Amino acid sequence: MKTIIGNWKMNVGTRESVALVRGVLLALRGKKMLPEVVVCPSFMALGEVRKIIAHSHVFLGAQNVHFEDHGAFTGEISSRMLSEVGVTHVLLGHSERRNLFGETDEMVNKKLIHALAVGLVPILCVGEGQEARRPGGTEEAQKVVAGQLRGAFKGLHLRHKERILIAYEPVWAIGTGVAAKPADAVSMHVFIRSLVPDLLPGIKSSQFSILYGGSVDGANAYDFLREDEVDGLLVGGASVKLSEFTKVLQSAMDVIEARA
Ligand code: 13P
Repeated sequence: MKTIIGNWKMNVGTRESVALVRGVLLALRGKKMLPEVVVCPSFMALGEVRKIIAHSHVFLGAQNVHFEDHGAFTGEISSRMLSEVGVTHVLLGHSERRNLFGETDEMVNKKLIHALAVGLVPILCVGEGQEARRPGGTEEAQKVVAGQLRGAFKGLHLRHKERILIAYEPVWAIGTGVAAKPADAVSMHVFIRSLVPDLLPGIKSSQFSILYGGSVDGANAYDFLREDEVDGLLVGGASVKLSEFTKVLQSAMDVIEARA
C-alpha cells in the first residue's frame, strides 16, 4: 500500500480547492491500482471538498486541530468538529506549526491523543532542521526525530484498529526544491520503523506507515515510492499544481502495478 497526501497549506481558497479535487478524481478515474489518497485543504474548503469526494476513494484531511474537545478557545477547531464535517485524517506537528506557531511536542501529544479518541487518523510530522544537515549530522538528525516521536507518543496506548501515519519531513527540504536523497530518506525511515515498537509497545507493523515529505514533485516521486521503506509521500507545493500532483499519483500507481 502506498499513501499520497496533498497538503494544500494556505495556498488555495475554496473555489480552487474544488477545481483541484475534481482534477484529482479525474486522474484516478478508471484506474485499478489506486494508492490511498488524502487531500488536506484549508478549513474553509473542507465542506465543499467533502461533497465532491463523497463516494470516491479520496479521503479528507485537515491541516491542524486543537487538543481540547470544546471550550473557550477562540479561533480553534476540535477533532470532534472535524470529524463531524467528514474529516478522516489530520496533520499534526507540521514543522510550520512547530516553527511559526510555537507548537511543542507536548501539544502534539495532546492533539494525537484527542484525534485518535474521535477516530481520526493522525499524520504525525517529524523532521530535523538545517543544523543537522552537515557531514556527520545523521546522528543529530536521528536524535531530533527520536525526541519528537518520544514526545508525541508519551502515554499513548494504541487500540487494535487505530492507525498512525508518520511523515518524515526534513525541514531543510520543505519548500526549497531540494529533496532528501531517497537513500537518506530510506535510512531515516528504517530508524523510525525500528523505534516505533519501543515507543508504542504492542503496535503492529500494519498499524503505522512512514511517508516522506519535502520538495516531492512529479519528477522525483517515483524514486521515493519504489523504495519498500517509503510507504508514501506528503506533498506540499506540487500538490496544488494539478499536473505535478497527477504525476505523483501516476508514479504511485506505476509502483503498485509493478508489484502486483
Ligand atoms: P513541499 O512539498 O512544498 O516541500 O512541502 C512539503 C510539506 O511541507 C508537506 O507537508
